[in-house]
Amino acid sequence: MGILRLGYAEINVTDMEEAKSHYERTLGMKHVEDVNGAAYYKGWDEWDHHSLVLHEGGVGVNKFGYKVQRSEDLDYFEKKAQAFGATVERMSAGDTHEVKDGIRITSPSEHVFELYSEMTEVGSDVGFINPEVFPRDLVGVGVPGVDHALISCEDPDLVNKFFTDVFDFYPTEQVVTSLDDDASIIGSWLAATMKVHDIAIIKGPQGKLHHFAFQLVDWSQVGRAGQLFSMDDVSIDVGPTQHGITRGTTIYFFDPSGNRNEVFAGGYHAYPDRPCVKWTPDQLGKGIFYITRELNERFTTVFT
Ligand SMILES: [Fe+2]
Repeated sequence: MGILRLGYAEINVTDMEEAKSHYERTLGMKHVEDVNGAAYYKGWDEWDHHSLVLHEGGVGVNKFGYKVQRSEDLDYFEKKAQAFGATVERMSAGDTHEVKDGIRITSPSEHVFELYSEMTEVGSDVGFINPEVFPRDLVGVGVPGVDHALISCEDPDLVNKFFTDVFDFYPTEQVVTSLDDDASIIGSWLAATMKVHDIAIIKGPQGKLHHFAFQLVDWSQVGRAGQLFSMDDVSIDVGPTQHGITRGTTIYFFDPSGNRNEVFAGGYHAYPDRPCVKWTPDQLGKGIFYITRELNERFTTVFT
């Protein structure tokens, strides 16, 4: 089976108390614990210990965690990363809080990905025996969990190859310089399993975060999130709107430190044999923001 999903993102924030208020009160993530100055959070429908870690100091992403199905998968991915020429190191249990053995891989985009098969399970907020459909004490948006991330890199063709060759992801949609066979990739949306994307890469600075996203169910929840963002004076980048790419509905917004977040709902089921959708540069505005068909400058220039 290989990689199951984005398990966690560890990000930096400039002010811990402001960040906690944003992720806890506005987005409604569950605060799991504070350890050594870091704050651990999860969504209500997630069962592993955490899906978001906040570190005080700076902005941007320190690392991502990808959960794999079996411990043997770690050997498989270690060999593949080595064959690709990526930097790989073994992680011992506890190197990352509440995570068992794993491997730490640095991608050609200079992002760190930790692959692991086990994290301490703390259970979802509705449980797995005769569960309610959502917890009735949700706070704010009440996000169920994290969904995906978009990262930037100088060489999207190389990083796309890294994700397909090493992690066995497959591209669902791409923005390409042309429809010719020798075209270059400007952006690529890649799936690990059947979600429309688990990672997206776009041409830009090395090692940077464009955004990470929280999953919602439908457009009405995206609209409600927007109402809550107004109540809490959250800085909005774009939305509510819909993507042409992935067909997801969305709002982009910033946490108090300036890290871009997204609430994302919808999208279609991905299959490895579904032809990869291609977008040409002249239609990039429509691909990213299907309704307005325009990119704002901030969207293409602000990375953390
Ligand atoms: Fe996204």
